[in-house]
Amino acid sequence: MASEKFDVIVIGAGPGGYVCAIRCAQLGLKTACVEKRKTLGGTCLNVGCIPSKALLSSSEKFEEAGHHFDAIGIETNPKLNLAKMMAFKEDVVDANTKGIEFLFKKNKVTRIEGAAEIVAPGKVKVGKDEYEAESIVIATGSDVISLPGIEIDEKRIVSSTGALALTEVPKTMVVIGGGVIGLELGTVWRRLGAQVSVVEFLDQILPGMDGEIRKESEKIFKKQGIDFKTASKVTSAKSGAKGVELTIEPAAGGKAETMSADIVLMAVGRKPYCQGLGLDKLGVEMTERGQIKTDEFFETSIEGIYAIGDVITGPMLAHKAEDEGVILAEMLAGQSGHIDYNLIPGVIYTWPEVANVGKTEEQLKEAGVKYNVGKFPFMANGRARAMGMTEGFVKILACAETDRVLGAHMIGPNVGDLIQEVVSVMEFQGTAEDIARTCHAHPTLTEVVKEAALAVHKRPIHI
Ligand code: FAD
Ligand code: NAI
Repeated sequence: MASEKFDVIVIGAGPGGYVCAIRCAQLGLKTACVEKRKTLGGTCLNVGCIPSKALLSSSEKFEEAGHHFDAIGIETNPKLNLAKMMAFKEDVVDANTKGIEFLFKKNKVTRIEGAAEIVAPGKVKVGKDEYEAESIVIATGSDVISLPGIEIDEKRIVSSTGALALTEVPKTMVVIGGGVIGLELGTVWRRLGAQVSVVEFLDQILPGMDGEIRKESEKIFKKQGIDFKTASKVTSAKSGAKGVELTIEPAAGGKAETMSADIVLMAVGRKPYCQGLGLDKLGVEMTERGQIKTDEFFETSIEGIYAIGDVITGPMLAHKAEDEGVILAEMLAGQSGHIDYNLIPGVIYTWPEVANVGKTEEQLKEAGVKYNVGKFPFMANGRARAMGMTEGFVKILACAETDRVLGAHMIGPNVGDLIQEVVSVMEFQGTAEDIARTCHAHPTLTEVVKEAALAVHKRPIHI
């Protein structure tokens, strides 16, 4: 039984935890990070952002080579080697997780392997060893949600984790949930040859996003070959030797239909994960949705115990967890800081990509805010035409009185990168006029953002 004392012990080495640990160490705090996985990086690096983006990127190239190269004068006949594509994905994950090991060593963060339990404020147990710390940071992330009566076996009924590791391309795949995971991983397997159907409970996919984007994305993904069953719910899914038999009913009730699929992907959301931490015994207060309750300093109801990332409220995104990790570390070192949760961008890495920041039109209407809209299509942009990627548009919402940018919603090529300009402008409380008056290189896709800003004042040049 060892007992070592730290200034900070971080539990969980995902983007929230590992970033918090590194920043604490940079600020001179003696820091340890406990992780129960064999590798560092959490959901994001091991079974989330990174492997999914590797498969999205590889499958995008496969689709390009098979379906789009011909139009620009390149004749190919690509053949899929799934095992090699998966091996590449594994290499990418490996390089990234090893990168965090290196960063821990470089910054002198002590890595503790095993599952942590908080036995008392200031005391963490890992296996037989006990450690002490002034501050404990919980960054234990989230886990997949299933539907009542449907068991995820990771063989035929898979979560995102299983869907990132299939050994053959299914002929048919039913995705339950038309959210971010459903669209990204549904897209991967459609591109590789599966017939993909998405069953979504609501009457449109991508709840919470701007209405026009939801409509346009459904139209584009449908055209790409994904079948959507909206306003529908899966009431049972039974896995057998040959596949999965599903029962689907209209969301509002009515006649059930059956469907079968080789693989079912469960993608109806994720829930905070704090199993085994001992929070019940400590009496840590939770929200109704099972998240750890924190104040504006990320402190839980127990003094000296903090929480960040997917395990607390807010969007379940890696960059949100990272930013919380940095701010908390700085606060623990006696500095101050804050996060503007309105300015956390969201990106869906399909093709075209989907990106957003700030308020949607629906939110502005509901809040009674007067706003102007500027919209510009990629079709009218020279670079997009030169790339042969003209689908989608950029939409900017600006305050009718002050012209301050209130939100931006985009679907199109590389919008995951384009959104950052608007995030920065909003961070500095800039206006649509600021974007419109800023010189944008020609020919670039960024000009679509500039033209959308010009369109806010009804003076776009190229349309
Ligand atoms: P996590 O990354 O979940 O890390 C928590 C860690 O804590 C885990 O490693 C876990 O093993 C460890 N842990 C738990 N309990 C204990 C314990 N008791 N003791 C020790 N260790 C413990 N977000 C984006 O922003 N962009 C994306 O492109 C994106 N893609 C995604 C794709 C998929 C398929 C999935 C599933 C998620 C994706 N996300 C994406 C979401 C992103 O992965 C999460 O928001 C992010 O990982 C949350 O970080 P975190 O540090 O809070 O938790
Ligand atoms: P999600 O919340 O994005 O989507 C879940 C979808 O399932 C919603 O459309 C919802 O209406 C639907 N749904 C819920 N119950 C249903 C039911 N019974 N039947 C049919 N549909 C139902 O959750 P998802 O896609 O599982 O992703 C989880 C989290 O991971 C998200 O919060 C997201 O932020 C994060 N993530 C982020 C990515 C990114 O930033 N690119 C990529 C992948 C995941």
